[in-house]
Amino acid sequence: MTRTSRIPGFYKLSVEERRALVAEATGVSAEQIGLALDAGGLDEDTADKFVENVLGTYSLPYGVALNVRVNGRDYVVPMVVEEPSVVAAASNAAKMARKGGGFTADIDPPLMISQIQLLDVADVTAARERIAALEPELLRLADCAIPGLVARGGGAREIEIRALDQDMIVVHVLVDCRDAMGANLVNTVAEAIAPRLAEIAGGVVGLRILSNLSDRRCVRVTCRVPAAALATEDMEGSAVIDGMVSASRFAELDPYRAATHNKGIMNGVDAVVIATGNDWRAVEAGAHAFAARSGRYSPLATWRRDGDSVVGFMEMPMALGTVGGTLRVHPGARLSLRLLGVESAQELAAVACAVGLASNLAAVRALATDGIQRGHMALHARSVALAAGAEGELVERVAAMIVEARDITVEAARRAVAMLSRRADGASVIED
Ligand code: MEV
Repeated sequence: MTRTSRIPGFYKLSVEERRALVAEATGVSAEQIGLALDAGGLDEDTADKFVENVLGTYSLPYGVALNVRVNGRDYVVPMVVEEPSVVAAASNAAKMARKGGGFTADIDPPLMISQIQLLDVADVTAARERIAALEPELLRLADCAIPGLVARGGGAREIEIRALDQDMIVVHVLVDCRDAMGANLVNTVAEAIAPRLAEIAGGVVGLRILSNLSDRRCVRVTCRVPAAALATEDMEGSAVIDGMVSASRFAELDPYRAATHNKGIMNGVDAVVIATGNDWRAVEAGAHAFAARSGRYSPLATWRRDGDSVVGFMEMPMALGTVGGTLRVHPGARLSLRLLGVESAQELAAVACAVGLASNLAAVRALATDGIQRGHMALHARSVALAAGAEGELVERVAAMIVEARDITVEAARRAVAMLSRRADGASVIED
């Protein structure tokens, strides 16, 4: 079977038809897709074991981004998100990026940072030297606390020592977490080696916890989009590139804009992170801390002209897992990993980042051309139609009517539903 993520006309099909095509494209049967998703991806009994005080589960739409090609491989990418147009925008942008060969990702090894705070250190400089000299012993001690990970090829790799104040040191243990996100593993390491560290430093143990600024576990992703693929009905591709470069500059110069620019990136990233059962708060915390690392909050992705193409570049931390915890027991998350067909957490991280850059490409291109509202409102109209009680094929018709009338409100949609329903009744009376 050749994996493909090119399925033209997919959005026009019914849910059942889409499942059949995704089954063909990924080798995961439509029945298996249904089994995982028909109960909203998670049944009540399993949910009751996840968290406390459970009353039930809470579903969100589960869609797939198409056209995504990363490092020469095609992916059907599951996305869980409530916002209309996010999945469509990522798919459209990925199609544009394909014209330039798709996304290229360079992925760091899966190193997480375990932080141990040491307080009341009498001589910070001497303590640093003593800890550095004992690095091999400390790494061995750390590995003893995580034998399972060591057996899977991971483990403690390096120690970093940072003096934060005249009496305070923080020690980082860099742990290769392989295919695990690694929060529990690095917290275990922190607690295991903290007493020995305090002894060596001549201080007192403070906090022992991972850092969510996982900047040793970054992904760098690029794509090149030829001008011809960017052109709109009213704008030539080259002018779109100028607009995108100027939009990038705006985000580079202004944290107010950078926050929104990055929010657009996280539209794509979070949707993949959630669909694969990963900790999106951790990814969000890492992304924004990384964006502010220079002292000024900056865009995670930037756009530059290169001849007759625009080139996007994005770098961000991406601490994801494909094994452990939630993933083992969440049917929806397990399905997502099977649809993706990823073989490692690093591969998953690359795909999530590519979808983030695709989302940014879509947003920046839309903002530099028609503005975001045109496409966004057309899709938002569908949710409004549903809220007004439209069902089945009425949803698209009501959405089209309120877009045409430039009145995308529930009231207008209710009027459209009433009108179309009256017409349908009339038709059936005549047919009778
Ligand atoms: C909306 O969810 C995301 C955007 O605001 C992102 C951006 O402005 O770049 C469109």
